[in-house]
Parts: sequence; C-alpha cells; structure tokens
Amino acid sequence: MNVILLGPPGVGKGTQGELLMEALGWERIATGDLLRAARREGTELGRKAQEYMDAGELVPDDLIVALVEERLEDLSSDTGVLFDGFPRTVPQAEALSEVLPRVGRELGGVVVFECPDEVLQKRISGRRHSPDSGRVYNVYFDPPETEGICDEAGTPLVHRQDDRPETVARRLEVYKEQTAPLIRHYENSSTPVLRIDGDQSMDEVQTALRSALDEELGVGDSGA
Ligand code: AP5
Repeated sequence: MNVILLGPPGVGKGTQGELLMEALGWERIATGDLLRAARREGTELGRKAQEYMDAGELVPDDLIVALVEERLEDLSSDTGVLFDGFPRTVPQAEALSEVLPRVGRELGGVVVFECPDEVLQKRISGRRHSPDSGRVYNVYFDPPETEGICDEAGTPLVHRQDDRPETVARRLEVYKEQTAPLIRHYENSSTPVLRIDGDQSMDEVQTALRSALDEELGVGDSGA
C-alpha cells in the first residue's frame, strides 16, 4: 500500500505521518525533510534547493522526482510507503504514476488534510524542531519540558528558516496555486481520495485518519 499525504503547510502531514509510521511500520518519504538533510550535508541538491525553499517556492520537478525515485529504489517493495509533501504539482503526480509500477508498487489512496489558514499560521509560528533528534515541537500545542530545549537530545531547538511570516504567506499561495489542483486531479482518477479535518487535536486527527484508512482502504494495524 502506498498513500499520499496532501495538504497545506503546517496542517500536520509530518506529525500524522510519524504517528502512522509507528503504528503501521511503514516507511515515510518526506521530500521537505530530504531536502533539508541535503542542505545540512551541503550536497549539490541541497545547494540548488536552498534558494527556492527560502523564498517559499517549489524546488524544480526534475530534482524532486529524481530524489523520490532514488529513495523508492532503496526500499523493499513489501513495505508500505507514505508520501509526505510529494507530489506537489501535476507533473510530479504524473511522474509518480510512471515510477510506481517500475518499482513494483501501486498507489492506494490520497489523504487530504484541511485546515483554515489562520490555524496553519499559528501552528507554523509555534513550530520548533531539534536538528539533533529530528523531533518537532510546538510552543503553543506541544511544548518541550524545558523551553527551547529538546527533551530527547538536550540541545537547543530551532525555528525553520522558511517559517518566517513573509515566507509562510508565499508557501500558502504556492499551495493554492500549484498543489491544491492535485486534489481534483486525483478525484478525476480511480484513486480513492480521503478528506480529513485537520483542525482538531493531534490525537483526534490520528483517530480520524486511522478509521478512514481502515474503512476506505482496508489498512489496519496489520500493515500493508
Ligand atoms: P515541507 O517540509 O514539505 O513543508 P510543508 O509541506 O510546507 O509542510 P510543513 O512541514 O510546513 O507542515 P506539516 O504539514 O508537515 O506540519 P507539521 O506536522 O510539521 O517543504 C518545505 C519546502 O521544501 C517547500 O516549501 C519547497 O520549497 C520544498 N519542497 C518540499 N517538497 C517539495 C516537492 N515535492 N516539490 C517541490 N518543492 C518541495 O505541523 C506543523 C506544526 O503544528 C508543528 O509544530 C506541530 O507540532 C503542530 N501540529 C501538528 N498537528 C497539530 C494539531 N492537530 N494541533 C495542534 N498543533 C499541531
């Protein structure tokens, strides 16, 4: 089973994807995380992506598709995969539908998380993450025990560079212009599209997600 998590910046794709991975034992391919890792490591991809990410724009499709294809080739086809933040454009979706059969997979469904912009802005303004443990916190909704310090790594938390208000505004526009059309794209295909209300507590969203996956796609605790 392979499932796409789709939704605007800050809606909780990463948070829900992590919880689902733990519950189902699936792999998660999160293009934003892969790009941030490439930047930290100073690779050519990281250098090329930097300027687009900091401006809140999308990184070119060819770079992203190559990155995802490489990750998929490394995974056993027995494992379920959650795509988080990919695809983000219609050409990326078309490329994914060509790549999946080549690596022995097929798309099971698309989950669309929905949430009002003002909630997204508050979540993003409160997001902090630990570069050492990778854990994500929120100063309003999920704070660490000691302000500014990761509970696991014991080192300072940071605010993502593209989480500044002016960049967030552009990321929300880019989502509406280039990514939201994917919802219609998949609704016009035979792929099931599951809509989840993302404007609930993290646990409530997870419960709604798990029951939708179970009812609509037959994905339960037993995995793919
Ligand atoms: P990416 O990292 O994918 O960012 P995004 O899609 O904008 O999503 P976010 O990571 O901001 O949010 P999220 O939905 O994962 O929310 P989270 O769970 O963290 O991409 C970054 C950039 O990389 C892009 O702008 C682009 O430049 C480039 N890029 C990436 N993929 C690309 C692609 N395919 N093509 C081209 N370019 C690409 O939650 C947010 C916060 O809210 C957290 O603090 C969390 O603790 C909190 N929270 C979560 N859920 C709840 C809840 N229910 N209640 C209260 N708080 C909550």
